[in-house]
Amino acid sequence: MTKTTTTIPISDIILDEDIYPRARIDQKRVGIFAENMRDGFKFDPIEVQAHPDVTGKYRILDGVHRWSAYKATGVTEPEVIIKNLDGVDPLLYAAKKAIGPQQLTEEEARKTARRAFQNNPSLTSSEIGKAIGRSRQAVDSYIADLRAATQMELDLKIFRMNQLKIPQERIAKRLGQARETIRNHLAKMPELANQPKADLSRGFTVAQVAEKHGWTEPMVWSLSLEGKDDLERFKELGWGLRTWDLWDWNDCDRRFGDDWPGRIPAQLIAHILYYFSRQKDLVFDPMGGGGVTPDVCLAFNRGCWSLDMIDRPDARPEIEPYYWDLKGDFKKGRKTSGFFNSKQKPDLIIIDPPYFDKKRDDYAQKSISMLPRQEYLEFFEGFFGLMKQHSKKTTKLAFINADWRDFQNKPAVDEDREASILIDDYLRILNKTGWQHTHIIQAPMSTQRFSAGVVSAMQKKRILGVTSRYVIVLKQCGPFP
Ligand SMILES: C[S@@+](CC[C@H](N)C(=O)[O-])C[C@H]1O[C@@H](n2cnc3c(N)ncnc32)[C@H](O)[C@@H]1O
Repeated sequence: MTKTTTTIPISDIILDEDIYPRARIDQKRVGIFAENMRDGFKFDPIEVQAHPDVTGKYRILDGVHRWSAYKATGVTEPEVIIKNLDGVDPLLYAAKKAIGPQQLTEEEARKTARRAFQNNPSLTSSEIGKAIGRSRQAVDSYIADLRAATQMELDLKIFRMNQLKIPQERIAKRLGQARETIRNHLAKMPELANQPKADLSRGFTVAQVAEKHGWTEPMVWSLSLEGKDDLERFKELGWGLRTWDLWDWNDCDRRFGDDWPGRIPAQLIAHILYYFSRQKDLVFDPMGGGGVTPDVCLAFNRGCWSLDMIDRPDARPEIEPYYWDLKGDFKKGRKTSGFFNSKQKPDLIIIDPPYFDKKRDDYAQKSISMLPRQEYLEFFEGFFGLMKQHSKKTTKLAFINADWRDFQNKPAVDEDREASILIDDYLRILNKTGWQHTHIIQAPMSTQRFSAGVVSAMQKKRILGVTSRYVIVLKQCGPFP
């Protein structure tokens, strides 16, 4: 912990309620301090830290009464110590300072303990207790309900990741827990499922059970469909199975995946799983996005490892953060995801990338949809090669994409082939990188996204739009890694 003593304008010093352990400022005390100041009494400097959210401002760690008295007496540049807490919790630091002159009231201690735990659930009761001047047992009682909820959240994350066959060491790393903790939680898993299972057998719906126990619907489906074959699963989910190679749905099934740019219909993933994998197989989705693939894998008893450049540790712990940077890390040979160190290889890889140029503003800054045409294609050449390196001989690949033609404002006859990316461009790259296609399935996008006005304008200008989308399924051809 470092400190610097200096003076700063009083207007740059802020009282941040988030790290103030007291219920209110004691005005009587402020009055006494102000009187002492006027009499020339010198006080210790106020302790502050750079405000994490407001540039150029400082928030008070210790000395709120002195600060109030300085303001009352017209001091414009008080002496302060600027602290760097080096990771120490600022609320607990402030509490420890506050109890020097006067203990916290019962209510203040309780609220501070709860806030500290909510900010950082890895704090122990004795760490909190030492800072707020209370025993470990007292803190235990203040935060018992919060701790139980945190434990339950952790249990559910572990349950979900374990159902998806993510290895224990990766679960531990992802959740910031020791492997021992994960093992202990896993031992409780069968018990954890008892209540939801009992409710299902009493006739509650999957949605009701999910709501009641705070589970996600796909997790409850994974219980409710236990022991069923894939066809029965389709039936229970209310999805008709397509027998031919035209898979068309107008809507995404909202029970699976999150609202996400480029969200794919869950039924599409289910069909890929049905035709090209078996129960207990391991699926890999390197650009998992809103999580449709892991959700459907839960319902169809497949393992699923997924990655994405967007990290959502709370909502989607099963989607591990990873940025495919073929120019940077991969060129340098650095592959930091646990996926690359695993001996286990996927049975099926499902790639649903951002389509070229489409929705580029909806994705994050460094998404591959921002790449110029040539680089986008080069990305895939490297990427498909990598997928092959990390596959086994029998691994299948399902690549979802659409033709990209520059049809905006251009009659069909004037489109420039050199500027477009068609499915055969991907096929060429796939074949070059050792993948041979076995199926090209049509899975058209909905036309509902075009308004009647747009359609009429397109028709007048002889513009030919794109709604076709394909699932290209491939097996490997030599040389094998
Ligand atoms: C079409 S979305 C996937 C949608 C997903 N199948 C779903 O239905 O929710 C493509 C994903 O690729 C991710 N992505 C784009 N470029 C990436 C990169 N270089 N590395 C990792 N993820 C990337 C985006 O963040 C986005 O979530």
